[in-house]
Amino acid sequence: MLTPQDAGFLGSTTAKYINDIAPQLDGWFYPLDMMMFGMTEAFHRSLSLSGDIAEIGVWKGKSLALLAMIAPVKDQLYAMDLFGDDLLEQTQHNISRFVAPELASRIRYFKGNTADYSTDYLKTLFTNKLRVLHIDAGHEYHEVLHTLTLAAPFVQDYGIIIMDDYQDREFPGVPAATLDYCYETAQGRWVPFLVGANKMYLANPVYAKLFQLFLCNEAYFKDSFRLSRIKDSLVLIAQSKLPMKSTVIEQLVKNQLHAVATPTELETLTEKARSQSQTALEAEQAQQVP
Ligand SMILES: C[S@@+](CC[C@H](N)C(=O)[O-])C[C@H]1O[C@@H](n2cnc3c(N)ncnc32)[C@H](O)[C@@H]1O
Repeated sequence: MLTPQDAGFLGSTTAKYINDIAPQLDGWFYPLDMMMFGMTEAFHRSLSLSGDIAEIGVWKGKSLALLAMIAPVKDQLYAMDLFGDDLLEQTQHNISRFVAPELASRIRYFKGNTADYSTDYLKTLFTNKLRVLHIDAGHEYHEVLHTLTLAAPFVQDYGIIIMDDYQDREFPGVPAATLDYCYETAQGRWVPFLVGANKMYLANPVYAKLFQLFLCNEAYFKDSFRLSRIKDSLVLIAQSKLPMKSTVIEQLVKNQLHAVATPTELETLTEKARSQSQTALEAEQAQQVP
């Protein structure tokens, strides 16, 4: 249970979801990842970055509900799944129970098998680039690699990709495909940078470090992270069993960050990202003009 004082950093909506709504929904979504979803929103908001959100693998909508509750209303939400049996109806029922109608109505549901996805198909779906992509569908190596390879190019430079069940012994294909995608297919354009409860978070190497610093600066998480490494990528372990001082982590991350970009270059990069997200927004608004 998050107390109101603790929850301040996440905003009252994420806290309400964690305390009151999540316990009423079936699914495999853990409080630490709920907090990291909240922090992803807070990180993008702190940089005035916007963009759409896609969840591939919805089941009954447990994680979708949080995404829909916390993303600004102008961000489109794509909910994609096989939606076998009556899962679409169950998801829509759960969303209507817990998500305000004006936030729920921007969710677009797509029934389909990821095996049938192609770049052309996704181009017809995603009218703007994505800010957040949550992949939680088929968990076998070939499924994860296929989905990631097709969907990641639709994510903004400042976007975050979230890989479900990266740490689950039942699904060894998830980490294998994720790392093969990051370091071979995408050649380091995406890197793992944050370990949640059962999810791995990926970002572009610069935004990965900016997000790590953002997390370390949050008083609630003070001295609770550990910094590890995969190849050249620094990876923050949330709620570590072997925590390190946040000040030490910050210094290590800053050293690596400044090795890739000076503070002026970082500001230029952030400005570019903001104008990209503004352009996407303007394009969307222009489309809505009758
Ligand atoms: C673990 S559940 C998703 C959980 C959900 N994100 C939550 O937080 O409760 C996995 C979902 O992936 C969907 N799925 C599995 N294989 C798929 C495929 N090949 N294409 C599309 N969806 C798939 C299943 O229908 C199921 O609803």
